[in-house]
Amino acid sequence: MLVMRDIVKTFPGVVANDHVSLEVQAGEIHALLGENGAGKTTLMNILYGLYRPDSGEIYVKGKRVHIRSPRDAIAHGIGMVHQHFKLVRPHTVAENVALGLAGTPFWQPARVVERGLKELSERYGLPVDPRARVWQLSAGEQQRVEILKALYRGAEILILDEPTSVLTPQETAELFKVLLHMKQEGHAVIFITHKLSEVMEVADRVTVMRRGKVVGTLPTAETDKGSLARMMVGREVVFRLSKGECRPGEEALVVEDLHALSDRGIPALRGVSFTVRRGEILGIAGVAGNGQRELVEVITGLRRAQRGRIIVLGKDLTNRSARRIADAGVAHIPEERLRMGIVPGMSIEDNLILKKHHRPPFSRGPLLQLRKVHAFAKRVIEEYDIMTPSPRTPAKLLSGGNIQRLILARELSGQPGLVVAAHPTYGLDVGATEQIRQLLIKQRDSGVGVLLVSEDLEEIMALSDRIAVMFRGEIMGIVSASEAKIEEIGLMMAGERRQQEQPS
Ligand SMILES: Nc1ncnc2c1ncn2[C@@H]1O[C@H](COP(=O)(O)OP(=O)(O)OP(=O)(O)O)[C@@H](O)[C@H]1O
Ligand SMILES: [Mg+2]
Repeated sequence: MLVMRDIVKTFPGVVANDHVSLEVQAGEIHALLGENGAGKTTLMNILYGLYRPDSGEIYVKGKRVHIRSPRDAIAHGIGMVHQHFKLVRPHTVAENVALGLAGTPFWQPARVVERGLKELSERYGLPVDPRARVWQLSAGEQQRVEILKALYRGAEILILDEPTSVLTPQETAELFKVLLHMKQEGHAVIFITHKLSEVMEVADRVTVMRRGKVVGTLPTAETDKGSLARMMVGREVVFRLSKGECRPGEEALVVEDLHALSDRGIPALRGVSFTVRRGEILGIAGVAGNGQRELVEVITGLRRAQRGRIIVLGKDLTNRSARRIADAGVAHIPEERLRMGIVPGMSIEDNLILKKHHRPPFSRGPLLQLRKVHAFAKRVIEEYDIMTPSPRTPAKLLSGGNIQRLILARELSGQPGLVVAAHPTYGLDVGATEQIRQLLIKQRDSGVGVLLVSEDLEEIMALSDRIAVMFRGEIMGIVSASEAKIEEIGLMMAGERRQQEQPS
């Protein structure tokens, strides 16, 4: 159905695709796997007409095609859901789908689209409200809109760039159902992910890339997670963390009876209280949308508390500014990296000192100490393995996983007393995931308090010393990780309160 042959794409200082060939059949789910910066997104951007290859050929249904723009791609039945969504937030779902669509009447196109959307969403089991505004939708819902938008445009080859990294496990299961449905209709799906278990679960075949080249393509039935990981990084990967005993110290964070509203003005936090000690990782488990996001935002100064107190390292910082809180020693690894984690147009170097430029050693008086800045940037780029041709490269040109490494590097290199980490390993390849988890443990061992919010129960169980479960803006219970049972946590995630609260 689709053949990409000998694709070459270079950027200044990088060969992103080095004679890459890919062949995808109709009725197949084809996974694309590879380390951060391997060239997966670049290859798909070429297929979708966002980049022109330096050389190479593309064939759709046996015919050579020239794809010069997304419009061309759509005309050839190719649709793409990006790593970072591109919906227009103030518009409704139907308006977003209608946007840029050729051949819809310009008067009330939304009406026509609404009808078509309804049909498609029923056929593929993708429920959305066509009149909802995009900013009101969860990540999972926004993704459904992106998929519907592609299907509405007649996509027969659908590219999904890390679709599951923003989804809850339930949403992921739903997405897989939709993909299987598309496969049965004879569509082809190209699916980029870092999660090997997802590849094994849903893909028919998998192509592995490393440093711009294809290492191999094979049926998932003939491989396993270990071999895939080895192909990807070129060496053996250990899936085990070394974690010593927890030695909790003084209180790094005390949250007392916290109340806050969501974006929609509904109570999102309803009397949340807990403590994180230095030298301890407290994991917050729960299905997304139960107040975790709001909790992180209130602690880091991005949302107002209506009631309650936040005490960080002994200081009352309730409703202080984000900058004041960062200065007090709070590192923040945000959930929405592109919107909140970096300034996309600024260089990597400038992004690295973003929160520190007003403090020594980088500034003396009003002057920035450029030599210190360069040396610092060089050191952390190496330490955190940020793949870039130069520290002066704009941050937005980094691959998804490398943007994440940039944020981690900035936040963790500031010697924080408290780390607030929301989904710290989203979008990271297997090697980097282990590296970051180990890093968080190292922070804990050096006496930093860590608040870890993650939807990945496996991650929560592996890293946390204690686990708090959130449900509808409340803590259902706090358990010590060594005694925690998955079933018990599952029950709390579904809203069952734990009988006796454990003292912290
Ligand atoms: N527009 C661009 N300009 C310059 N360099 C780029 C551009 N787009 C990508 N690159 C570089 O090309 C390489 C491959 O990037 P790409 O985004 O394709 O990786 P990826 O496999 O999708 O990684 P990830 O898993 O982190 O998303 C990286 O070194 C990246 O910095
Ligand atoms: Mg990518």
